[in-house]
Amino acid sequence: MIEQLRRRLIDANQSDVLRFWDRLELEQQAKFAQQLEGVDLELVQRLYEQAQTTVTNWSDLADQAQSPPSVTLAEQSDPKLRQQAVAMGEQALREGKVGVVLVAGGQGSRLGFDRPKGMFPIAPLSGRTLFGMLIDLLKARAKYYGTRIPLYVMTSPATDGETREHFADVIDYGLPAGDLQVFCQGTMPAVDAKTGQLLLNAPGELFLSPDGHGGMLQAFQASGCLDDTRRRGIESLFYCQVDNPLVQLCDPLLVGLHFLNRADVTTQVIRKSHPMQKVGNVIRVGDHLEVIEYSDLPDEMARQQLTDGSLRFWAGNIAVHIFQREFLEYAARQTSGQGTGLPFHIAKKKVPYLDEQRRQVQPTEENAFKFERFIFDLLPMAQRAVVVEVDAADGFAAVKNAASAISETAETTQAAIIAQQIRWLRAAGVHVAPGVRVEIHPSVAHDQETVRQKFSGREPIDEDFYFTSN
Ligand code: UD1
Repeated sequence: MIEQLRRRLIDANQSDVLRFWDRLELEQQAKFAQQLEGVDLELVQRLYEQAQTTVTNWSDLADQAQSPPSVTLAEQSDPKLRQQAVAMGEQALREGKVGVVLVAGGQGSRLGFDRPKGMFPIAPLSGRTLFGMLIDLLKARAKYYGTRIPLYVMTSPATDGETREHFADVIDYGLPAGDLQVFCQGTMPAVDAKTGQLLLNAPGELFLSPDGHGGMLQAFQASGCLDDTRRRGIESLFYCQVDNPLVQLCDPLLVGLHFLNRADVTTQVIRKSHPMQKVGNVIRVGDHLEVIEYSDLPDEMARQQLTDGSLRFWAGNIAVHIFQREFLEYAARQTSGQGTGLPFHIAKKKVPYLDEQRRQVQPTEENAFKFERFIFDLLPMAQRAVVVEVDAADGFAAVKNAASAISETAETTQAAIIAQQIRWLRAAGVHVAPGVRVEIHPSVAHDQETVRQKFSGREPIDEDFYFTSN
Protein backbone atom coordinates (compact mmCIF):
# COMPACT_ATOMS: atom_id res chain seq x y z
CA MET A 1 0.00 0.00 0.00
CA ILE A 2 2.80 2.39 0.85
CA GLU A 3 4.28 1.94 -2.61
CA GLN A 4 1.03 2.96 -4.19
CA LEU A 5 0.75 5.92 -1.88
CA ARG A 6 4.37 6.90 -2.51
CA ARG A 7 3.67 6.79 -6.26
CA ARG A 8 0.63 9.03 -5.85
CA LEU A 9 2.64 11.49 -3.79
CA ILE A 10 5.53 11.53 -6.28
CA ASP A 11 3.09 12.12 -9.15
CA ALA A 12 1.59 15.01 -7.23
CA ASN A 13 5.04 16.35 -6.38
CA GLN A 14 4.30 15.85 -2.68
CA SER A 15 6.69 13.04 -1.71
CA ASP A 16 8.57 15.39 0.63
CA VAL A 17 5.83 14.80 3.14
CA LEU A 18 7.29 11.30 3.70
CA ARG A 19 10.71 12.63 4.69
CA PHE A 20 10.47 11.28 8.26
CA TRP A 21 8.68 8.07 7.21
CA ASP A 22 11.52 5.66 8.03
CA ARG A 23 11.75 6.97 11.57
CA LEU A 24 8.07 6.37 12.32
CA GLU A 25 6.78 3.39 14.32
CA LEU A 26 4.66 0.95 12.31
CA GLU A 27 1.51 2.16 13.99
CA GLN A 28 2.36 5.78 13.21
CA GLN A 29 3.03 4.85 9.60
CA ALA A 30 -0.36 3.18 9.29
CA LYS A 31 -2.13 6.23 10.77
CA PHE A 32 -0.19 8.64 8.57
CA ALA A 33 -0.88 6.59 5.45
CA GLN A 34 -4.57 6.64 6.26
CA GLN A 35 -4.49 10.41 6.71
CA LEU A 36 -2.71 10.89 3.40
CA GLU A 37 -5.15 8.59 1.60
CA GLY A 38 -7.91 10.95 2.66
CA VAL A 39 -6.35 13.98 0.94
CA ASP A 40 -7.47 14.91 -2.56
CA LEU A 41 -3.99 15.73 -3.89
CA GLU A 42 -5.26 16.95 -7.24
CA LEU A 43 -7.61 19.38 -5.55
CA VAL A 44 -4.79 20.67 -3.34
CA GLN A 45 -2.63 21.17 -6.42
CA ARG A 46 -5.40 23.03 -8.25
CA LEU A 47 -6.06 25.25 -5.23
CA TYR A 48 -2.37 26.04 -4.91
CA GLU A 49 -2.23 27.04 -8.58
CA GLN A 50 -5.31 29.15 -8.08
CA ALA A 51 -3.69 30.81 -5.07
CA GLN A 52 -0.80 31.91 -7.33
CA THR A 53 -2.90 33.20 -10.16
CA THR A 54 -6.31 34.36 -8.96
CA VAL A 55 -6.76 37.65 -7.22
CA THR A 56 -10.39 38.47 -6.50
CA ASN A 57 -10.96 42.10 -7.15
CA TRP A 58 -13.32 42.94 -4.32
CA SER A 59 -13.42 46.62 -5.28
CA ASP A 60 -14.75 45.68 -8.71
CA LEU A 61 -17.38 43.43 -7.21
CA ALA A 62 -18.31 46.08 -4.67
CA ASP A 63 -18.56 48.62 -7.53
CA GLN A 64 -21.28 46.53 -9.15
CA ALA A 65 -23.12 46.10 -5.87
CA GLN A 66 -26.63 47.28 -5.34
CA SER A 67 -28.35 47.41 -1.99
CA PRO A 68 -30.37 44.26 -1.51
CA PRO A 69 -34.11 44.85 -1.42
CA SER A 70 -35.27 43.74 1.98
CA VAL A 71 -38.39 43.04 3.93
CA THR A 72 -38.23 44.58 7.35
CA LEU A 73 -39.54 42.91 10.48
CA ALA A 74 -40.00 46.22 12.27
CA GLU A 75 -43.37 46.79 13.92
CA GLN A 76 -44.32 49.56 11.52
CA SER A 77 -43.99 47.31 8.47
CA ASP A 78 -47.11 46.14 6.67
CA PRO A 79 -49.24 44.53 9.45
CA LYS A 80 -51.26 42.43 7.00
CA LEU A 81 -48.14 40.91 5.51
CA ARG A 82 -46.83 40.22 9.00
CA GLN A 83 -50.03 38.43 10.01
CA GLN A 84 -50.08 36.39 6.86
CA ALA A 85 -46.41 35.45 7.25
CA VAL A 86 -46.71 34.55 10.93
CA ALA A 87 -49.72 32.33 10.18
CA MET A 88 -47.80 30.60 7.42
CA GLY A 89 -44.70 30.15 9.58
CA GLU A 90 -46.76 28.74 12.45
CA GLN A 91 -48.43 26.30 10.10
CA ALA A 92 -45.07 25.13 8.71
CA LEU A 93 -43.77 24.62 12.25
CA ARG A 94 -46.91 22.77 13.37
CA GLU A 95 -46.69 20.50 10.36
CA GLY A 96 -43.09 19.59 11.20
CA LYS A 97 -41.68 21.10 8.02
CA VAL A 98 -38.77 22.88 9.72
CA GLY A 99 -35.46 21.56 11.07
CA VAL A 100 -32.40 23.35 12.43
CA VAL A 101 -28.73 23.18 11.45
CA LEU A 102 -26.40 24.61 14.06
CA VAL A 103 -22.74 25.03 13.12
CA ALA A 104 -20.50 24.47 16.10
CA GLY A 105 -17.16 23.43 14.69
CA GLY A 106 -15.28 26.25 16.38
CA GLN A 107 -13.41 26.11 19.64
CA GLY A 108 -13.67 28.93 22.13
CA SER A 109 -9.99 29.86 21.72
CA ARG A 110 -10.69 33.53 20.90
CA LEU A 111 -12.76 33.59 24.09
CA GLY A 112 -9.95 32.07 26.10
CA PHE A 113 -12.06 28.91 26.51
CA ASP A 114 -10.38 25.69 25.43
CA ARG A 115 -13.49 23.59 24.88
CA PRO A 116 -16.11 23.52 22.11
CA LYS A 117 -17.59 27.00 21.94
CA GLY A 118 -21.12 25.65 22.41
CA MET A 119 -20.18 24.66 25.96
CA PHE A 120 -19.37 28.25 26.90
CA PRO A 121 -21.59 29.43 29.80
CA ILE A 122 -23.34 32.60 28.67
CA ALA A 123 -26.80 33.03 30.21
CA PRO A 124 -26.54 36.02 32.55
CA LEU A 125 -28.09 34.54 35.70
CA SER A 126 -28.43 30.79 35.18
CA GLY A 127 -25.06 30.31 33.45
CA ARG A 128 -26.68 28.10 30.80
CA THR A 129 -24.30 27.39 27.92
CA LEU A 130 -24.60 28.57 24.31
CA PHE A 131 -25.86 25.07 23.43
CA GLY A 132 -28.22 25.15 26.40
CA MET A 133 -29.75 28.51 25.52
CA LEU A 134 -30.33 27.61 21.87
CA ILE A 135 -31.74 24.17 22.62
CA ASP A 136 -34.02 25.47 25.41
CA LEU A 137 -35.50 27.91 22.90
CA LEU A 138 -35.87 25.19 20.28
CA LYS A 139 -37.70 22.98 22.78
CA ALA A 140 -39.97 25.82 23.84
CA ARG A 141 -40.90 26.55 20.22
CA ALA A 142 -41.54 22.87 19.50
CA LYS A 143 -43.76 22.56 22.58
CA TYR A 144 -45.66 25.75 21.78
CA TYR A 145 -46.52 24.46 18.30
CA GLY A 146 -47.03 20.85 19.42
CA THR A 147 -44.39 19.69 17.01
CA ARG A 148 -40.88 18.28 16.75
CA ILE A 149 -37.98 20.32 15.42
CA PRO A 150 -34.97 18.10 14.76
CA LEU A 151 -31.61 19.66 15.42
CA TYR A 152 -28.48 18.81 13.42
CA VAL A 153 -25.28 20.02 15.07
CA MET A 154 -22.14 20.32 12.98
CA THR A 155 -18.88 19.71 14.83
CA SER A 156 -15.27 19.59 13.63
CA PRO A 157 -12.65 16.95 14.48
CA ALA A 158 -11.49 19.29 17.28
CA THR A 159 -14.92 19.54 18.90
CA ASP A 160 -16.66 16.32 17.88
CA GLY A 161 -15.72 13.97 20.74
CA GLU A 162 -16.24 16.46 23.53
CA THR A 163 -19.52 17.71 22.05
CA ARG A 164 -20.92 14.17 21.79
CA GLU A 165 -19.85 13.44 25.39
CA HIS A 166 -21.49 16.66 26.53
CA PHE A 167 -24.76 15.78 24.80
CA ALA A 168 -24.63 12.30 26.35
CA ASP A 169 -24.02 13.86 29.80
CA VAL A 170 -27.04 16.12 29.54
CA ILE A 171 -29.06 13.32 27.89
CA ASP A 172 -29.46 15.29 24.70
CA TYR A 173 -30.96 18.20 26.64
CA GLY A 174 -34.15 16.18 26.92
CA LEU A 175 -34.86 16.23 23.18
CA PRO A 176 -36.84 13.25 21.86
CA ALA A 177 -34.70 10.34 20.65
CA GLY A 178 -33.36 11.01 17.16
CA ASP A 179 -34.07 14.74 17.29
CA LEU A 180 -30.48 15.68 18.11
CA GLN A 181 -27.97 14.50 15.55
CA VAL A 182 -24.30 15.36 15.38
CA PHE A 183 -22.32 15.36 12.15
CA CYS A 184 -18.68 16.25 11.72
CA GLN A 185 -17.29 18.56 9.06
CA GLY A 186 -14.28 17.70 6.92
CA THR A 187 -10.73 19.00 7.06
CA MET A 188 -8.24 20.48 4.62
CA PRO A 189 -4.45 20.47 4.68
CA ALA A 190 -2.38 23.65 4.48
CA VAL A 191 0.43 24.13 1.97
CA ASP A 192 3.64 26.10 2.03
CA ALA A 193 2.95 29.33 0.14
CA LYS A 194 6.32 29.27 -1.67
CA THR A 195 6.51 25.60 -2.63
CA GLY A 196 2.98 24.22 -2.47
CA GLN A 197 4.22 21.39 -0.21
CA LEU A 198 1.84 19.92 2.37
CA LEU A 199 2.73 21.08 5.87
CA LEU A 200 3.31 18.69 8.76
CA ASN A 201 2.10 19.06 12.31
CA ALA A 202 4.31 16.19 13.50
CA PRO A 203 6.66 13.81 11.66
CA GLY A 204 3.80 11.44 10.91
CA GLU A 205 0.89 13.86 10.86
CA LEU A 206 -0.35 16.47 8.41
CA PHE A 207 -1.42 19.91 9.53
CA LEU A 208 -5.18 19.80 8.99
CA SER A 209 -7.83 22.35 9.82
CA PRO A 210 -11.64 22.38 9.48
CA ASP A 211 -12.84 23.10 5.94
CA GLY A 212 -14.94 26.12 7.01
CA HIS A 213 -18.63 26.31 7.91
CA GLY A 214 -19.34 25.92 4.19
CA GLY A 215 -18.14 22.34 4.67
CA MET A 216 -21.62 21.88 6.13
CA LEU A 217 -23.14 21.13 2.73
CA GLN A 218 -20.95 18.11 1.96
CA ALA A 219 -20.83 16.86 5.54
CA PHE A 220 -24.61 17.17 5.92
CA GLN A 221 -25.07 15.05 2.85
CA ALA A 222 -22.27 12.53 3.49
CA SER A 223 -23.46 11.93 7.07
CA GLY A 224 -26.94 11.01 5.89
CA CYS A 225 -28.51 13.96 7.70
CA LEU A 226 -29.80 15.48 4.46
CA ASP A 227 -31.54 12.18 3.65
CA ASP A 228 -32.90 12.11 7.19
CA THR A 229 -34.55 15.51 6.65
CA ARG A 230 -36.19 14.23 3.46
CA ARG A 231 -37.48 11.09 5.21
CA ARG A 232 -38.99 13.26 7.94
CA GLY A 233 -40.74 15.53 5.46
CA ILE A 234 -38.70 18.56 6.42
CA GLU A 235 -38.93 21.25 3.76
CA SER A 236 -36.79 24.01 5.24
CA LEU A 237 -33.67 24.17 7.37
CA PHE A 238 -33.04 27.05 9.70
CA TYR A 239 -29.26 27.59 9.79
CA CYS A 240 -27.39 29.48 12.50
CA GLN A 241 -24.07 29.74 14.35
CA VAL A 242 -23.53 28.61 17.90
CA ASP A 243 -22.08 31.96 18.96
CA ASN A 244 -25.31 34.00 18.79
CA PRO A 245 -27.64 33.28 21.72
CA LEU A 246 -30.00 36.08 20.64
CA VAL A 247 -30.87 34.31 17.38
CA GLN A 248 -34.61 34.22 16.65
CA LEU A 249 -34.48 30.47 16.22
CA CYS A 250 -37.37 29.28 14.03
CA ASP A 251 -39.14 32.60 14.41
CA PRO A 252 -42.56 32.04 12.80
CA LEU A 253 -42.46 35.41 11.05
CA LEU A 254 -39.10 34.69 9.40
CA VAL A 255 -40.10 31.12 8.55
CA GLY A 256 -43.40 32.42 7.18
CA LEU A 257 -41.74 35.04 4.98
CA HIS A 258 -39.54 32.28 3.59
CA PHE A 259 -42.56 30.10 2.71
CA LEU A 260 -44.64 33.03 1.51
CA ASN A 261 -41.93 34.03 -0.94
CA ARG A 262 -41.28 30.43 -1.99
CA ALA A 263 -37.62 31.23 -1.45
CA ASP A 264 -34.67 28.90 -1.94
CA VAL A 265 -32.83 30.93 0.65
CA THR A 266 -33.97 33.54 3.13
CA THR A 267 -31.23 35.45 4.84
CA GLN A 268 -31.68 37.57 7.91
CA VAL A 269 -29.53 40.70 8.12
CA ILE A 270 -29.01 43.61 10.45
CA ARG A 271 -28.54 47.24 9.51
CA LYS A 272 -24.85 47.85 10.26
CA SER A 273 -24.34 50.18 13.23
CA HIS A 274 -21.19 51.70 11.70
CA PRO A 275 -19.34 51.25 8.40
CA MET A 276 -16.51 49.18 9.88
CA GLN A 277 -18.66 46.74 11.83
CA LYS A 278 -17.09 43.31 11.54
CA VAL A 279 -19.90 41.58 9.71
CA GLY A 280 -20.05 40.40 6.12
CA ASN A 281 -21.86 42.70 3.65
CA VAL A 282 -24.87 41.24 1.85
CA ILE A 283 -25.10 42.80 -1.61
CA ARG A 284 -27.05 42.30 -4.79
CA VAL A 285 -25.17 41.87 -8.06
CA GLY A 286 -27.45 41.57 -11.06
CA ASP A 287 -30.16 39.13 -10.10
CA HIS A 288 -28.42 37.35 -7.27
CA LEU A 289 -27.13 37.93 -3.76
CA GLU A 290 -23.53 37.75 -2.61
CA VAL A 291 -21.59 38.46 0.54
CA ILE A 292 -18.39 40.48 0.69
CA GLU A 293 -16.59 39.74 3.93
CA TYR A 294 -15.75 42.80 6.06
CA SER A 295 -12.05 42.08 5.70
CA ASP A 296 -12.36 42.17 1.87
CA LEU A 297 -14.36 45.38 1.50
CA PRO A 298 -12.03 48.35 1.05
CA ASP A 299 -12.53 50.91 3.87
CA GLU A 300 -13.38 53.77 1.54
CA MET A 301 -16.14 51.68 -0.01
CA ALA A 302 -17.46 50.58 3.38
CA ARG A 303 -17.87 54.27 4.22
CA GLN A 304 -19.82 55.15 1.05
CA GLN A 305 -23.27 56.62 1.62
CA LEU A 306 -26.43 56.81 -0.43
CA THR A 307 -28.04 60.18 -1.14
CA ASP A 308 -30.18 59.89 2.01
CA GLY A 309 -27.03 59.54 4.12
CA SER A 310 -27.50 55.84 4.85
CA LEU A 311 -24.72 53.33 4.23
CA ARG A 312 -24.48 51.87 0.75
CA PHE A 313 -23.28 48.60 2.29
CA TRP A 314 -25.82 48.48 5.05
CA ALA A 315 -26.86 44.84 5.22
CA GLY A 316 -24.77 42.97 7.76
CA ASN A 317 -24.58 39.19 7.50
CA ILE A 318 -25.45 37.53 10.83
CA ALA A 319 -25.21 34.01 9.38
CA VAL A 320 -28.89 33.28 9.91
CA HIS A 321 -30.34 31.64 6.82
CA ILE A 322 -33.27 29.44 5.95
CA PHE A 323 -32.46 26.95 3.20
CA GLN A 324 -35.03 25.01 1.28
CA ARG A 325 -34.10 21.31 1.58
CA GLU A 326 -34.50 20.79 -2.16
CA PHE A 327 -32.19 23.72 -2.79
CA LEU A 328 -29.52 22.10 -0.60
CA GLU A 329 -29.96 18.84 -2.50
CA TYR A 330 -29.51 20.74 -5.77
CA ALA A 331 -26.45 22.63 -4.46
CA ALA A 332 -24.84 19.43 -3.20
CA ARG A 333 -25.04 17.98 -6.74
CA GLN A 334 -23.26 20.90 -8.38
CA THR A 335 -19.65 20.43 -9.38
CA SER A 336 -17.00 22.95 -10.31
CA GLY A 337 -13.28 22.89 -11.05
CA GLN A 338 -12.93 22.14 -7.36
CA GLY A 339 -15.17 19.06 -7.38
CA THR A 340 -18.48 18.94 -5.53
CA GLY A 341 -19.44 21.25 -2.73
CA LEU A 342 -18.96 24.96 -2.28
CA PRO A 343 -15.89 26.75 -3.64
CA PHE A 344 -12.83 27.23 -1.44
CA HIS A 345 -11.59 30.60 -0.27
CA ILE A 346 -7.83 30.77 -0.10
CA ALA A 347 -6.21 32.65 2.77
CA LYS A 348 -2.56 33.27 3.51
CA LYS A 349 -1.98 32.46 7.18
CA LYS A 350 0.75 31.75 9.71
CA VAL A 351 0.92 27.97 10.07
CA PRO A 352 3.52 26.24 12.26
CA TYR A 353 5.69 23.75 10.37
CA LEU A 354 8.45 21.18 11.07
CA ASP A 355 12.06 21.89 10.27
CA GLU A 356 14.57 19.23 9.26
CA GLN A 357 15.34 18.52 12.94
CA ARG A 358 11.64 17.75 13.43
CA ARG A 359 11.23 20.87 15.59
CA GLN A 360 8.04 22.85 15.28
CA VAL A 361 8.67 26.38 13.99
CA GLN A 362 6.24 29.23 14.67
CA PRO A 363 6.47 31.53 11.62
CA THR A 364 6.56 35.28 12.13
CA GLU A 365 4.99 35.97 8.76
CA GLU A 366 2.21 34.39 6.71
CA ASN A 367 3.84 31.32 5.23
CA ALA A 368 1.02 29.06 4.13
CA PHE A 369 -2.24 28.84 2.24
CA LYS A 370 -5.31 27.52 4.04
CA PHE A 371 -8.51 26.57 2.27
CA GLU A 372 -11.99 27.17 3.66
CA ARG A 373 -15.56 27.06 2.40
CA PHE A 374 -18.12 29.67 3.42
CA ILE A 375 -21.80 28.88 3.79
CA PHE A 376 -22.81 32.22 2.28
CA ASP A 377 -21.57 31.01 -1.11
CA LEU A 378 -24.93 29.28 -1.32
CA LEU A 379 -26.59 32.68 -1.74
CA PRO A 380 -25.54 33.36 -5.35
CA MET A 381 -26.76 29.86 -6.32
CA ALA A 382 -30.32 30.61 -5.25
CA GLN A 383 -32.93 31.41 -7.90
CA ARG A 384 -35.08 33.07 -5.26
CA ALA A 385 -33.29 34.68 -2.34
CA VAL A 386 -35.03 36.92 0.15
CA VAL A 387 -33.35 39.35 2.55
CA VAL A 388 -35.11 40.10 5.81
CA GLU A 389 -33.94 42.82 8.13
CA VAL A 390 -34.07 42.37 11.88
CA ASP A 391 -33.21 44.85 14.60
CA ALA A 392 -29.82 43.74 15.98
CA ALA A 393 -31.19 44.22 19.51
CA ASP A 394 -33.66 41.42 18.75
CA GLY A 395 -31.55 38.99 16.81
CA PHE A 396 -27.80 39.35 17.01
CA ALA A 397 -25.41 39.43 19.95
CA ALA A 398 -22.56 37.14 18.99
CA VAL A 399 -19.93 36.27 21.55
CA LYS A 400 -16.56 36.07 19.83
CA ASN A 401 -13.94 37.85 21.91
CA ALA A 402 -12.28 37.61 25.31
CA ALA A 403 -13.26 40.07 28.05
CA SER A 404 -10.46 42.52 27.18
CA ALA A 405 -12.05 43.36 23.79
CA ILE A 406 -14.54 46.19 23.36
CA SER A 407 -17.16 44.33 21.38
CA GLU A 408 -18.69 40.87 21.00
CA THR A 409 -17.60 39.74 24.47
CA ALA A 410 -19.55 37.65 26.99
CA GLU A 411 -20.36 40.88 28.79
CA THR A 412 -21.83 42.66 25.74
CA THR A 413 -23.81 39.54 24.83
CA GLN A 414 -25.23 39.18 28.35
CA ALA A 415 -26.16 42.87 28.40
CA ALA A 416 -28.05 42.37 25.11
CA ILE A 417 -29.89 39.32 26.48
CA ILE A 418 -30.95 41.16 29.65
CA ALA A 419 -31.97 44.26 27.67
CA GLN A 420 -34.22 42.16 25.44
CA GLN A 421 -35.91 40.40 28.37
CA ILE A 422 -36.53 43.72 30.10
CA ARG A 423 -37.97 45.23 26.89
CA TRP A 424 -40.37 42.28 26.61
CA LEU A 425 -41.41 42.61 30.27
CA ARG A 426 -41.93 46.37 30.02
CA ALA A 427 -43.95 45.89 26.83
CA ALA A 428 -46.15 43.53 28.89
CA GLY A 429 -46.68 46.37 31.36
CA VAL A 430 -44.38 44.97 34.06
CA HIS A 431 -42.32 47.51 35.95
CA VAL A 432 -38.65 46.54 36.06
CA ALA A 433 -36.44 48.68 38.29
CA PRO A 434 -33.38 50.20 36.65
CA GLY A 435 -30.17 48.18 36.91
CA VAL A 436 -32.00 44.93 37.62
CA ARG A 437 -30.91 41.82 35.71
CA VAL A 438 -33.60 39.46 34.49
CA GLU A 439 -33.45 36.13 32.69
CA ILE A 440 -36.50 34.16 31.60
CA HIS A 441 -36.12 30.48 30.79
CA PRO A 442 -37.85 29.81 27.43
CA SER A 443 -40.03 27.15 29.07
CA VAL A 444 -41.70 30.05 30.94
CA ALA A 445 -41.92 32.41 27.96
CA HIS A 446 -39.85 32.55 24.80
CA ASP A 447 -40.80 35.67 22.88
CA GLN A 448 -42.54 39.00 23.24
CA GLU A 449 -46.00 37.49 22.84
CA THR A 450 -45.54 34.65 25.35
CA VAL A 451 -43.99 37.11 27.83
CA ARG A 452 -47.11 39.27 27.43
CA GLN A 453 -49.36 36.25 28.03
CA LYS A 454 -47.46 35.07 31.12
CA PHE A 455 -46.39 38.31 32.75
CA SER A 456 -49.15 40.92 32.19
CA GLY A 457 -50.38 42.20 35.51
CA ARG A 458 -47.37 40.94 37.49
CA GLU A 459 -45.87 42.87 40.40
CA PRO A 460 -42.88 45.07 39.76
CA ILE A 461 -39.49 43.38 39.58
CA ASP A 462 -37.01 45.20 41.78
CA GLU A 463 -34.21 42.70 42.17
CA ASP A 464 -32.26 40.31 39.92
CA PHE A 465 -34.48 37.38 39.00
CA TYR A 466 -34.26 34.17 36.99
CA PHE A 467 -37.73 33.01 35.98
CA THR A 468 -37.68 29.26 35.47
CA SER A 469 -40.25 26.51 35.62
CA ASN A 470 -37.72 23.95 36.88
C1 UD1 B 1 -18.85 35.04 10.35
C2 UD1 B 1 -19.11 35.49 8.90
C3 UD1 B 1 -19.44 36.97 8.85
C4 UD1 B 1 -20.61 37.26 9.77
C5 UD1 B 1 -20.32 36.76 11.18
C6 UD1 B 1 -21.55 36.90 12.05
C7 UD1 B 1 -17.78 34.14 7.42
C8 UD1 B 1 -16.53 33.99 6.66
N1 UD1 B 1 -17.90 35.22 8.14
O1 UD1 B 1 -17.66 35.69 10.75
O2 UD1 B 1 -19.77 37.37 7.53
O3 UD1 B 1 -20.86 38.64 9.77
O4 UD1 B 1 -19.96 35.37 11.17
O5 UD1 B 1 -21.30 36.42 13.33
O6 UD1 B 1 -18.65 33.33 7.36
N2 UD1 B 1 -17.51 27.31 12.18
C9 UD1 B 1 -17.56 25.96 11.97
N3 UD1 B 1 -16.59 25.39 11.22
C10 UD1 B 1 -15.58 26.09 10.64
C11 UD1 B 1 -15.54 27.49 10.86
C12 UD1 B 1 -16.52 28.07 11.63
O7 UD1 B 1 -18.46 25.28 12.48
O8 UD1 B 1 -14.74 25.50 9.95
C13 UD1 B 1 -18.57 27.94 12.99
C14 UD1 B 1 -18.04 28.43 14.33
O9 UD1 B 1 -18.24 27.49 15.35
C15 UD1 B 1 -18.92 29.65 14.57
C16 UD1 B 1 -19.27 30.14 13.18
O10 UD1 B 1 -19.03 29.09 12.30
O11 UD1 B 1 -20.12 29.31 15.20
C17 UD1 B 1 -18.59 31.45 12.77
O12 UD1 B 1 -17.28 31.26 12.49
P1 UD1 B 1 -16.21 32.42 12.66
O13 UD1 B 1 -14.97 31.96 12.04
O14 UD1 B 1 -16.16 32.85 14.09
O15 UD1 B 1 -16.83 33.57 11.75
P2 UD1 B 1 -16.66 35.14 11.87
O16 UD1 B 1 -15.29 35.54 11.46
O17 UD1 B 1 -17.09 35.60 13.18
